[in-house]
Amino acid sequence: MTVPFVDLQAQYRSIKPEVDEAIQRVLDTSAFVLGREVEEFERAFAEYVGAEFCVGVSSGTAALQLAVTACGVGPGDEVIVPANTFFATAEAVSTAGATPVFVDCDPDSSNIAAERVEAAVTPRTRAVIPVHLYGRPADLGAVFEVAARHGLTVIEDAAQAHGARYRGSRVGALGRAGCFSFYPGKNLGAYGEGGAVVTNDPEVARRVRLLRDHGSERKYRHELIGYNFRLEGIQGAVLGVKLKYLDAWNRARRRHAARYRELLAPLERAGVLHLPREAADAEHVYHLFVVQSDARDELQRHLAEAGVQTGIHYPVPVHLQPAYAAHGHREGDFPEAERQARRVLSLPMFAELSDEQLARVAEAIESAAVSRQ
Ligand SMILES: Cc1ncc(COP(=O)(O)O)c(C=O)c1O
Repeated sequence: MTVPFVDLQAQYRSIKPEVDEAIQRVLDTSAFVLGREVEEFERAFAEYVGAEFCVGVSSGTAALQLAVTACGVGPGDEVIVPANTFFATAEAVSTAGATPVFVDCDPDSSNIAAERVEAAVTPRTRAVIPVHLYGRPADLGAVFEVAARHGLTVIEDAAQAHGARYRGSRVGALGRAGCFSFYPGKNLGAYGEGGAVVTNDPEVARRVRLLRDHGSERKYRHELIGYNFRLEGIQGAVLGVKLKYLDAWNRARRRHAARYRELLAPLERAGVLHLPREAADAEHVYHLFVVQSDARDELQRHLAEAGVQTGIHYPVPVHLQPAYAAHGHREGDFPEAERQARRVLSLPMFAELSDEQLARVAEAIESAAVSRQ
């Protein structure tokens, strides 16, 4: 038996008639860019996360770039971001014309180390972007405290955390703006590229809406220099169908995580594997189930031989990426992010995983541990 890392076909099979019908509606009306399906999805997603506004855009990266710009942050400004995230968090700050300033991550949560944010604040800092990495909410309370002391805007990167809750509220709607990715493998994924900005601030919503469509709300009248970052009709239609299943899929992910934890607990007790922890005040939605091991590369090879696909999120922290060489960072600057880059391994995780597949993954990890002894 092989176990894939994700299985998008299994999910499609489970909702095929509804998705096919939704796509057919777009074909029948030719509303290929924005249009009714996108508007309906925007309303439904805003309600789902508990935000007043949702603006659909062409990717999670576009969502971040537009949110940064719409919050009034640009050239000459600094934005604090975690060193341990997908590259796009920092990239979007740079393409918005501002400068990302990196902060190390917390050893337990892998999220931004909230107690280190304050030391990174300078007179030019305008915003901070906590990332809910792997689907686990960041320590927002602590980030909001520092942000309030220094007058910083908080923009959430919720690209991996659709439906996750922090102190009972869904993430994304808690900062001034929240950014989502609907890349196909995400907990809520389109059938192509997609993203959204959610906010309770009408001015931020208005600016994102303008910026995504050439600075224009009315055809051929351009109030701002913007972009072509519009969400496609087919993606809006697919997302509208899938949103109805998101909570059930997230519950399945949480059940699988609990099962992994049971099966792998002996290895954690033996000190050969570190398992992801849950915070008492947050609900993790396990976009990824990320374990840590000193022998990560060997473990990954062993699992591949046993037919278990895995991933590494991420092998190089953002401050050490060649694109940010001009920042002059060196190895050792953010030791925890660097340690995790050497140790993290993402196990198969998707709603349709079977008990047999979960057991197969655990067996393969166990046999790798035994073969090392
Ligand atoms: C944390 C994080 N931020 C931003 C993005 C960018 O989203 P997209 O790929 O839709 O541009 C991703 C996507 O992988 C992500 O994981």
